[in-house]
This record gives sequence, C-alpha cells and structure tokens, in this order.
Amino acid sequence: MNWPAEAIWEAVAPLLPGFTVEVLPELDSTNTELMRRARAGQFEPVLLVAERQTAGRGRLGRSWHSGAGDALTFSLGLPLAPADWSGLSLAVGVAAAEALHPDIRLKWPNDLWWQDRKLGGILIETAVGLQARYAVIGIGVNIAARPADGLSTPPAALQELAPGLGAPAALERIALPLVQAVQAFEQYGFAPFQARFNARDALADRAVKLSDGTSGTAHGASESGALLVHTAAGMAAVTSSEVSVRPA
Ligand code: BTN
Repeated sequence: MNWPAEAIWEAVAPLLPGFTVEVLPELDSTNTELMRRARAGQFEPVLLVAERQTAGRGRLGRSWHSGAGDALTFSLGLPLAPADWSGLSLAVGVAAAEALHPDIRLKWPNDLWWQDRKLGGILIETAVGLQARYAVIGIGVNIAARPADGLSTPPAALQELAPGLGAPAALERIALPLVQAVQAFEQYGFAPFQARFNARDALADRAVKLSDGTSGTAHGASESGALLVHTAAGMAAVTSSEVSVRPA
C-alpha cells in the first residue's frame, strides 16, 4: 500500500515538534506497541500505522479484528496534559467523523457508526510520562466490508459510504484534524466539541439500555462528555467508560 507518510509528516510536524510517522506491515496492536515503547521510556509524538494487526484490542477487554487491507488501524502517541481527561474519546470521534464523511454518527462514548452499524472504534490508553502523561489514541476504521463473524449486526465499512476511499486516503484525511482536535482538547477540554458531538449523536432521543441495568432516553453529551440519560429517577449523567450502552 502507498501511504501518505510524508504529506502527513509535513502537515503535522509544525504542530508537534519531534513528530514521526511510521508504517509497519504487521504488529500485534498499534496501541500495545506504543504502550510498550512508553514503558521503555519512549515518549516522542508518533503516528504508528499497522497494515495488519494480529491482536487488535477494543474497549472493555474486547478484541478488534481486521485483516490486511480491510481496515485502517493506527495509533497517535503523544505527551498530553489536559486539566480534565473526560470527553477525550468523544473529541477524537468528532475529529475522525468530521474528517471522513458527513453521514458518520457517533455512538457514546467512542464508536463511529453508520446506519446503526459499527464503522470504527477508538481506544485511548495512557502511560506515565516525564512531565505529562503519554496518551495513546488508537483508531480502527473498517474500510472494506467483511463477514459478520457471528455478530448480530454486520459491521459497516467506509467503502459503503465513500467508495474509492482506501485506508491511506482515510488516514491522510484524519491525521491533521486529529492532532488539532487533541491539542484543542488539551487546552479547552471537551466544551468546544459538545455541540459537534451532539450534531452526530447516534443515540439522541432514543431509548437506551446501559450495561449496569439502567434504561431511559439518551439526550446527548454534557459539557464534560457524560452521556445524559433521562431515567425514571430523573436525569442521569453517565460518565463511567466501563458502562456500555445500546439502543433498547
Ligand atoms: C473499540 O471498538 O472498542 C475500540 C477499537 C479500537 C481499535 C484500534 S485499531 C488501532 C488501535 N490498536 C488497537 O489494538 N486498538 C486500536
């Protein structure tokens, strides 16, 4: 595959001194690799792309499966010191969705959805850094349709809504807006992303069920990125990323 590593480097390096772009044919997981490097004392800003992951990871201990060429899988690693981390995955989702297609919706807290099917996901991890923590922001986007693998709803693929857009072109669209969003988040928090998230909120005004047993009607993200759910007991602000939510 022909990756736009140089174009991305030229666009991003002015914002992130010391930034590099690295594309590898295969890795267990781009998040795992950057967390390993951080534990070994490497905290430079880097965009690490794997053409294939053999042990991709998702949230809540789930795995993320993709084969060579059928998904865009990468992680952005950088030192980050926001006053408050809440809402970072939502801000990242906003940047990715806006960069890719107007019809992509966001399912709280960090899935990209198209027509109620999962198109991509975000996994953010952090490691102890030098002055700041080191953030590893992993993004996976399905590019080509693949079998449902026993999932009740087959995943969506970017080529269904943007035919001809491959993984390298998708990365080229996302990279700079992603870095800009992360830097804006570091400075201002989630607030500037709230309306943009809510404009794409896949759960807005829908009946939802949380994995902790709560159910109600979803009313978008709060100023700090919590999911507002109108329950029988009143308005609840769901913040725990351990909770998963689905349309009821
Ligand atoms: C989820 O849906 O729960 C999050 C999926 C995140 C997948 C991406 S692919 C690149 C990066 N490396 C990983 O192992 N996971 C993230």
